[in-house]
Amino acid sequence: MTCELSVNVDHVATVRQARGGNEPDPVRAGALALQAGAAGITVHLREDRRHIQDRDVHGLRALCGPGRGELNLEMALTEEMIAIALAIKPDRVTLVPERREELTTEGGLDVALHAKAIEAGAARLRAVDIPVSLFLDPEEALAAPTRAAGATIVEIHTGAYANAGDPAAVERELDRIGRAAVAFEREGLRVHAGHGLTVTNVGPLLQRYAFTELSIGHTLVSRSIEVGMEAAVREMIAAIGAARRP
Ligand code: PXP
Repeated sequence: MTCELSVNVDHVATVRQARGGNEPDPVRAGALALQAGAAGITVHLREDRRHIQDRDVHGLRALCGPGRGELNLEMALTEEMIAIALAIKPDRVTLVPERREELTTEGGLDVALHAKAIEAGAARLRAVDIPVSLFLDPEEALAAPTRAAGATIVEIHTGAYANAGDPAAVERELDRIGRAAVAFEREGLRVHAGHGLTVTNVGPLLQRYAFTELSIGHTLVSRSIEVGMEAAVREMIAAIGAARRP
């Protein structure tokens, strides 16, 4: 099974927002990523609109579509965001926790604490055929509640793996991720991963578990400054393709 790449273009918008103009354009960056072989585009529409704006989501909705690429809308589970998702109809919604003061999404969703709200939100999205993914820490115990809440996809948070400082910590995190991935798969969920992934650390990750999709942003936007978005995406697709599967 191939592992697809969804390119997160949030930080293209971060650079644009630094000057408040129109450049660089995350929709144009998304088009280049798809041209280079990405399977889809991800954006996180935050409550504070610190990077991606509503108009970007509309632009990406027009860009993506059947045969062109999948639009994955990351969002917090709020009434405002549910209404936006129901109106724009992304190809998938990924529910993430969101705190105003964080630099990036720092932890997975607490699926036990918010079970009822997630179930209700997922039901509203599924009613208009939008599949729901939950961004979760690599915990085996979260597999059954995720299925029960009505999600069909899980994105495992790989931040702790990406930030692990020594080989023992890397191994510990890979082990956690691998065991959690198997538990989620047993519940019938599609298993994706993301956060902090690079051309260097995707190999060992994919060797541990054959994820069906990786969601990658910061390193691609950074690398695109040196080689352009298309080349950066091609490099990542090559790194994913070169990884030996379990
Ligand atoms: N997945 C989720 C749920 C995220 O919040 C992020 C960060 O925006 C990513 C994946 C991508 O992480 P990175 O930008 O570190 O590649």
